[in-house]
Amino acid sequence: MGVPNFPLVTERLQLRPFLPADLDALHAMQRREDVTRYLYWGPRSRTETRRLLDRVIPLMAIDDSSDAVRLAAVLTQTGEVIGDFSLQRVSAEHRQGEIGFVLDPRHQRRGYATEAGREMLRLGFEAIGFHRIVGRCDARNTPSAQLMERLGMRREAHFRQNEFVKGEWCDELVFALLSSEWGLRPPPAGR
Ligand SMILES: CC(C)(COP(=O)(O)OP(=O)(O)OC[C@H]1O[C@@H](n2cnc3c(N)ncnc32)[C@H](O)[C@@H]1OP(=O)(O)O)[C@@H](O)C(=O)NCCC(=O)NCCS
Repeated sequence: MGVPNFPLVTERLQLRPFLPADLDALHAMQRREDVTRYLYWGPRSRTETRRLLDRVIPLMAIDDSSDAVRLAAVLTQTGEVIGDFSLQRVSAEHRQGEIGFVLDPRHQRRGYATEAGREMLRLGFEAIGFHRIVGRCDARNTPSAQLMERLGMRREAHFRQNEFVKGEWCDELVFALLSSEWGLRPPPAGR
């Protein structure tokens, strides 16, 4: 795969690489305790968010020089950046990818993460050619687990206290989807 044609367009969203002008929108998500509760970091200061933005802006292809795509989800109707979606190559040999997602709480629970997540899976399977895509979350992160279930991903593992995060041992869930399943199982309509 080379560089996908951006933006990726869904019913209500456009997904495109991050831009320097996205600092405020990215910080609005990364500074929040509720958003970062089950992530490995955060809440982030503005300086930390700027460093993050500098790191993610170049991530727009999965090829010889880059292992990840990191995309801002823009609400088509308003032009607002409301989410942060990633697709990472975790193994070239085994054609394995991993998805990640963050949605601004002001725009949660309207199906935007489902819509963008489905597009990230499409990118991974149809453009990049992954054989398997996983998603991982803290076992207490119910919205994340439910999102992966809505995306048709199969819950494959519940690891007990396999990671020490933010001062405590945490359980982790692993969800996965195979390219053959993506082809066979049309994405569910709506929710
Ligand atoms: C994980 C996260 C992205 C999920 O966001 P979300 O808003 O719950 O997911 P969606 O945008 O797909 O919305 C789904 C909800 O909208 C409802 N909905 C409304 N219209 C819908 C539609 N057209 N399609 C799908 N769902 C729809 C669903 O019923 C669901 O509601 P429910 O939570 O009451 O069951 C969000 O919780 C988040 O950013 N969390 C913080 C960061 C984080 O932990 N990321 C994951 C790290 S592993």
